[in-house]
Amino acid sequence: TVMAGRPRDLEGRKVVVSAGGTREALDPVRFLGNRSSGLQGYALARTAVARGAEVTLVAANVSLPDPAGAKVVRVESALELREAVLTASADADAVVMAAAVADFRPAVRRESKIKKRDGEPEPIELVKNPDILAELGERRRAARQAAGVGSVPGPGASSGVGAPPYVIVGFAAETDDVLANGQAKLARKGCDLLVVNQVGEGLAFGTPDNAATVLVAGGSPVEVPRGPKEDLADTVWGLVAARLV
Ligand code: CTP
Ligand code: CA
Repeated sequence: TVMAGRPRDLEGRKVVVSAGGTREALDPVRFLGNRSSGLQGYALARTAVARGAEVTLVAANVSLPDPAGAKVVRVESALELREAVLTASADADAVVMAAAVADFRPAVRRESKIKKRDGEPEPIELVKNPDILAELGERRRAARQAAGVGSVPGPGASSGVGAPPYVIVGFAAETDDVLANGQAKLARKGCDLLVVNQVGEGLAFGTPDNAATVLVAGGSPVEVPRGPKEDLADTVWGLVAARLV
């Protein structure tokens, strides 16, 4: 994909993108993980650089070359990703949570390798991970309330009131009732945009193509037909830039 010829509508803007999938350690050699390749997050980082942004890419277990011009922070677990994203978001204009974050982690991380022994295996106890996207939305809502401005996300967000990040973007993979579930998730997480991926049919995990519906808080959904992950990335940045006026 040609990186030239894009609008420089993110010039002077700081953006944070999370990419890949978190790993939750069971012991020194094993983890619970997921199939996210990081391709969509990396496409978002590359296109944001091309549109003039200062980009921090928080990468969880991705084996792709660093995008030129982006600052890359490598993390492994959901707790590490949370630290890195919240730190980088403190003065960012926009955050895009493209990473697949584990909802749960093992309650204990064993110091030594779990052995096979005799008899039945022990069950793995899980605890909930923090919801980073919801936390970003909640922090912004609280800051806006304290500043006496409306808590509803929308255009004009970058006028310097409330707290960064001014635009918050989430991703979701839904299998049924895609639009209804997506709209509910958008509201629940308090984000401005929610990219709902169509799962299956050779799309999403590890493929260069994607197809999605971008749900917009206070606006109409935007359909992105099947195409390179850069196309979806450009649609997202166009919508982000429009909310940063
Ligand atoms: N996310 C997050 N922190 C988590 C889990 C998810 O920040 N602990 C973010 C993801 O990066 C994504 C968005 O939330 O941008 C939606 O993730 P998704 O798994 O679809 O939503 P959940 O709220 O976890 O709901 P569920 O898995 O039950 O559908
Ligand atoms: Ca989840």
